[in-house]
Amino acid sequence: MQRVLSGVQPSGRLHIGNYFGALRHFVPLQDDYEALYCVVDLHAITTPQEPARLRAATLETAAAFLAAGLSPERATLFHQSGVPAHAELAWLLNCVVRVGWLERMTQFKDKTGSHREAASAGLYVYPALMAADILVYRAQKVPVGEDQKQHLELVRDIAAKFNHDWCDGEEYFPPPEPLIDAAGARVMSLRDGRRKMSKSDQGDAACIYLRDSSDDIARKLRRAKSDADALPSAEILGDSARPSAELLAARPEAWNLLGIWRAANSETWNDTLARFAGRGFSDLKNELTELLVEIVVPVGTEMDRLLADGDEIQKILARGAEKARALAEPVVRGAAERMGLLR
Ligand code: TYM
Repeated sequence: MQRVLSGVQPSGRLHIGNYFGALRHFVPLQDDYEALYCVVDLHAITTPQEPARLRAATLETAAAFLAAGLSPERATLFHQSGVPAHAELAWLLNCVVRVGWLERMTQFKDKTGSHREAASAGLYVYPALMAADILVYRAQKVPVGEDQKQHLELVRDIAAKFNHDWCDGEEYFPPPEPLIDAAGARVMSLRDGRRKMSKSDQGDAACIYLRDSSDDIARKLRRAKSDADALPSAEILGDSARPSAELLAARPEAWNLLGIWRAANSETWNDTLARFAGRGFSDLKNELTELLVEIVVPVGTEMDRLLADGDEIQKILARGAEKARALAEPVVRGAAERMGLLR
């Protein structure tokens, strides 16, 4: 059976971008693959975290996995730091990845901006840890949102270089493939349609969080940025199945709200545009509120219920980590041996 792996950082509250871009797609995969999903706490500490908040966010992220429909019987759910092999393999891969490759990572540049010198070294080598997360299980498929595409390409390069340099071309690490579903792969901020909706965005109004109430959702959508024109009709797409970069750039907020609708209702751009053509933002916002309340509030309510018993969530993670350790340890040992390290 093929393996899938994905991870979510416990660096803040989970939002609908995480849900539509990633979590929702994790669920059906648990039936067709050997699925491993981890709360990547070692990634979270690449930026400053308050310890008590990190612990709470780790449980909250695990609760979101469960509330979205993952089952600890069908998938292995665990916290990254519970499987030391991730950090061990990350070190080996730090010695494989080239500085020139890390230099090209746009997420590091976006996150650090002009404060590059003050960033942790961990943030810089973040993609090597991500490579370790995936390769330590030899996972073939990785469901993620669009923003992780470049990291996944780097993971493939790291795997290929390891195989080439240390394994005489034997495919010790298979190249993992990203699974990026076009619908919901890139949910943008409600306050600025050119920026990604992001956990680290502390501005509450920009994100719809999974634990938001129906009133929060209605209020945030009412205040979401819009523009002065009526919503476009399907003709604007021409022969294409999706809006071009030019269209997106001209009306980022309109396309974002329409895109959230399309992801939430699992429909094509054509159908979404046909539904709202010529109508105003307030219609879209009202209908989107109803749809999101229907989808998000049950997830948030289930998270609240699960979080009332944090010990139970910890037990699930501990059991998952034990299973994951058994899979990961021989792989990291094999990699170390190929590099010439003694047992
Ligand atoms: P993270 O924690 O930022 O996000 C978790 C998942 O949510 C997706 N996502 C989005 N999708 C659509 N629109 C958005 N606005 C949006 N924001 C986030 C992300 O693409 C991701 O799938 N580096 C990863 C975590 C990670 C990982 C891994 C992923 C660590 N190791 C191994 C896959 C495999 C990250 O920071 O995701």
